[in-house]
Amino acid sequence: MGKVFTWEVNDSTVEIKSNNQRLIVQVITDEIIRFLIPKWKADYKSVAIEGDVTVPTDFDVDETEEGIEIKTGQVTLKIMENFQFAFLDRYGDEILSSYQGKRVIKDNYSDKAIGFLESEGHDTHNLKKHEYAIQVLFNLRNEERFYGMGDKTGFLNKRGYAYENWNSDIPQIHHENMPALYKSIPFFIGKGAGYVYGMFFDNTFHSYLDFGKENNNYFFYGADNGNLDFYFMGGENIADVVEHYTYLTGRAPLPQLWTLGYHQCRWGYESAEDIRNVAKEMRGHGIPCESIQYDIDYMDGFRVFTWDEKEYGKPGELIAELEEDGFKAVCIIDPGVKVDDAYSIYSEGIKKDYFAHDKDGNVYTNEVWPGESVYPDFGRKEVRKWWAGNHKALTDIGMQGIWNDMNEPASFNGPLPLDVKFSVNDRLTNHEEAHNVYGHFMSQATYEGMKELTGKRPLVITRACYAGTQKYSAVWTGDNQSVWSHLQMLIPQLCNLGMSGFTIAGTDIGGFGGDTNPELLIRWIEASTFCTFYRNHCAKGQMNQEPWQFGETVLDIYRKYVKLHYRFLPYIYDLLFESQITGLPVMRPLVLHYEDDENTFNLNNEFLVGENMLVAPVLEQGATKRMVYLPVGTWVNYWTGQRFSGGVHIIVDAPIDMMPIFIKEGSIIPMYEEVQYVGEEPYDTLKLLIAGESAWGTHYQDNGEDFEYLEGEYNLYSFTYEDGKLDCDMLHEGYEKYTDIQWEKI
Ligand code: GLC
Repeated sequence: MGKVFTWEVNDSTVEIKSNNQRLIVQVITDEIIRFLIPKWKADYKSVAIEGDVTVPTDFDVDETEEGIEIKTGQVTLKIMENFQFAFLDRYGDEILSSYQGKRVIKDNYSDKAIGFLESEGHDTHNLKKHEYAIQVLFNLRNEERFYGMGDKTGFLNKRGYAYENWNSDIPQIHHENMPALYKSIPFFIGKGAGYVYGMFFDNTFHSYLDFGKENNNYFFYGADNGNLDFYFMGGENIADVVEHYTYLTGRAPLPQLWTLGYHQCRWGYESAEDIRNVAKEMRGHGIPCESIQYDIDYMDGFRVFTWDEKEYGKPGELIAELEEDGFKAVCIIDPGVKVDDAYSIYSEGIKKDYFAHDKDGNVYTNEVWPGESVYPDFGRKEVRKWWAGNHKALTDIGMQGIWNDMNEPASFNGPLPLDVKFSVNDRLTNHEEAHNVYGHFMSQATYEGMKELTGKRPLVITRACYAGTQKYSAVWTGDNQSVWSHLQMLIPQLCNLGMSGFTIAGTDIGGFGGDTNPELLIRWIEASTFCTFYRNHCAKGQMNQEPWQFGETVLDIYRKYVKLHYRFLPYIYDLLFESQITGLPVMRPLVLHYEDDENTFNLNNEFLVGENMLVAPVLEQGATKRMVYLPVGTWVNYWTGQRFSGGVHIIVDAPIDMMPIFIKEGSIIPMYEEVQYVGEEPYDTLKLLIAGESAWGTHYQDNGEDFEYLEGEYNLYSFTYEDGKLDCDMLHEGYEKYTDIQWEKI
């Protein structure tokens, strides 16, 4: 073997050479191994992974008959001829290995045939199959399933589907076969009988993952450029893999408590009067609400960081007025800067050379909402700093949250050419490499600006992102539609986003495009009760979809669920605290905790909230009952108190005002009193919902606003309920405690 390979160990890396090819294996931890074939750059600095994440780890390197073995306490990587490889677990069982054969591309359509189909408007995307510049095939087992991949459409399990990573602005209906949406998170969890692993492909160029759609014997990864650079993650279970992945790419920081409350939005509130009226209706109808969000119309001619005084009054006035009634202000900021010499953001950016250039060195322009626009080069630190500082114009007038949109980046006048010059981590490169991280760098700039300017935990919401953006921003799933299939997709989409690190996520409640209807809107607000980004939003030109637009019944049910969301806020917040340590999301597919139970493998229509609640929304028009799968354990119906032994499918009643919710026996769920907005009354009473005769739970409490908790200003309670008695232990005491802790049994 010595003849074929030479190898050298250097701290955590093993550099292996064979026939002029180079492979760098890096032992990040005993369960995370990086595998890099630097076809492009050996010293690539990741966007997703910040700082040095390598933990000094003991490992052995041995030569064997077949090649080289690199062995940590948990994982063995075997490297064979032509850099074929296999990952084994600590028992020596193979988890994942490269596929030795070649791709079998069956349907190679001619350009003529494709042109023919396209003339009637057929989508021929999937017919244009080819080999990629970077390509690796993996053995695929019959029972193997795949989870993760961020916001990709379709079902929870990605087996049999193929996806692309190329951030795409898609206002058309999002259907299950769609290759790409707004986000690129090239991370997935592979799961089969007795094994689990994670794979993160850290390459920002246009890339492809085919999970056995092309062939049942292999799955493959391809990329148009860059390195073959992946991180293999082992673990005992899915939760371990999520923990490893979020260890690498970072975890969503704890948000301000109010940001988890309800938000109302519409593209089409065109004046201060519109916003004021919506705020008034909200309070008038007693629907808790934190913000009426400002979509693009608040700006002067869609110039970012400006204010339309004609329609919205003096900057700051409306915000201050609504603040008196408990409303916070959150506004949209797009990346496109209007070409206009009289506009300071544009002229300053030009003067300082902050915008992207075309291949000939001219400032590149395309069209977005403001008309002809330029694109800040967010991959440069200096540009991010400038952009961050521009938010002062907004925080000065009271803005408390920023919603970043159109940052794929979107363009109305054809796609940006791949050779437009952008930077990535201060290295000048082109759009081909920078496209998928444009939204990431914009969110980072926004986060850093808002943190510096307000001293609070920033609320940033972004549409486009890359792996790791969860450190800076919450996400929503973009322009969905008011159709039942989009309501159904909410569960797999948010669960997969959650397993991909995005613990703070939501959809446009009611649907963005198309007209909603009363039943759909009700089922949507019900299904979103445990969403961490909780906003009703809809497009210009669509029917109004605020909760009071459809009569008393809709309003009553809507209010009931928004109030329920507020009652469960401390449970949601606890899970976000826990997520700082584990990376686990709030909304979890059942397979995450019951991964050996085959009933959970493809369960798309119910989910867990943490480990202790199970939620089964009604997702079909007209349905008033539904089948629910309860996994092992005893589950208590939240509404009726009825107990069920799990491991069974049951039929439950679910009339229009009832979304089935179950609490796991043995748990203690923290709850708050109803309020109209967070901060209306101090949360000085905690209510505990105790399920069963013997129960346990922890609860986290802090000021819900700033970073003092990092200095120890928080409380961590541990509750035990036994023999009719509740005991409380303080695991950490560093903040003003509740004046009253009440409990009730279910
Ligand atoms: C995009 C966004 C949408 C927003 C609209 C106008 O379509 O996805 O949420 O309302 O632009 O800003």
